[in-house]
Amino acid sequence: MQSITKTFGILTAGGDCPGLNAAIRGVCRAARDRYDMTIIGIANGYRGLIEGNYRVLKPEDVWGILTRGGTILGASREKPFKVSRGEYDNELGVDKVAAIKENYRKLRLDCLVVIGGNGTNTTGYLLSQEGLNVVGLPKTIDNDIAGTDRTFGFHSALAIATEAIDRLHSTAQSHNRVMVIELMGHKAGWLALYAGVAGGGDVILIPELPYDIKVIGQHLLKRSQCGKGFSIVVVAEGSLSIEESRMDKKERKKHREQTVVTPSIGYRVAREIEAETGMETRATVLGYVQRGGIPSASDRVLATSLGTAAADLLARGEYGRMVALTGNEINTVDLSVPAGKVKTVPVDHYMIDTAIAVGTCMGI
Ligand code: F6P
Repeated sequence: MQSITKTFGILTAGGDCPGLNAAIRGVCRAARDRYDMTIIGIANGYRGLIEGNYRVLKPEDVWGILTRGGTILGASREKPFKVSRGEYDNELGVDKVAAIKENYRKLRLDCLVVIGGNGTNTTGYLLSQEGLNVVGLPKTIDNDIAGTDRTFGFHSALAIATEAIDRLHSTAQSHNRVMVIELMGHKAGWLALYAGVAGGGDVILIPELPYDIKVIGQHLLKRSQCGKGFSIVVVAEGSLSIEESRMDKKERKKHREQTVVTPSIGYRVAREIEAETGMETRATVLGYVQRGGIPSASDRVLATSLGTAAADLLARGEYGRMVALTGNEINTVDLSVPAGKVKTVPVDHYMIDTAIAVGTCMGI
């Protein structure tokens, strides 16, 4: 079939997640098999385009990668438009954006396909403003990208987190303890909210609802008085207390350094619960396990669908767009839609009411 795009570059950037290779496969299989395009695989996100680290992808490069975790291209959090503290520019004396434009021209790319989160698609939008043709695909376990109802990576992380919460129930009950589990999600609470509901969390804390430790304490003590001496508390890594929500970033950092020195919010909440209730409490930070391993079936389907839709955009020469899921449909939005935004949980989201309806304390 005819295609306006003859050669394109593809990169994956930001935090990795299950489904990235399924998306790469979706783009590349459709672009080559249906439209006979030439594909340049760029290593380690935007850094590969800055440093000239790329190679022509052959058909066999994307064979057997549908079920593989991570990304065959590698990823980085390189932010070309963010003026670095000089360590890079001094070293090579090059402006990152100029280097990208130079390599884009040298490779004779008709378009750049970027698979990533908020930062990646924001950089893609800024590059499109600089005159490059860019098509974006949304990915992240955080599910916090504006313009798409869901991102691949989210369902896989949800399954991993839910399985971990299930395991905590038995050990919490055996020891009559309060178990706090900290989940990822960056500044949004989607993963903690959904995994908390799926795993039957007794308390769910998300950044969108700053928590009151007294409310949490009352809920846990009431459970204990009803004979349920154990509880599961699911905490999004970006959660904060009511007091902290009134501070700016700098004040919050100073406050946290001066008060209880703990590695992260999950440990802080555990200490606060013990101080508030006297109940024995332990903390688990699930961390990067949520980003590892093979993609769920749902993420494979979404990633593949978004990938083939991106190939169709390339063929039609529809640049400056991000492919997206709206409802059950694959759609596209202007790259300006996700740029510079974080999709947080609306405080009136039905899943919050669902959690409360089954007796979950949201810390408020
Ligand atoms: O964006 C995905 C994510 O896993 C977030 O949930 C988390 O806060 C962040 O990446 C961790 O970043 P890094 O991989 O750079 O440590």
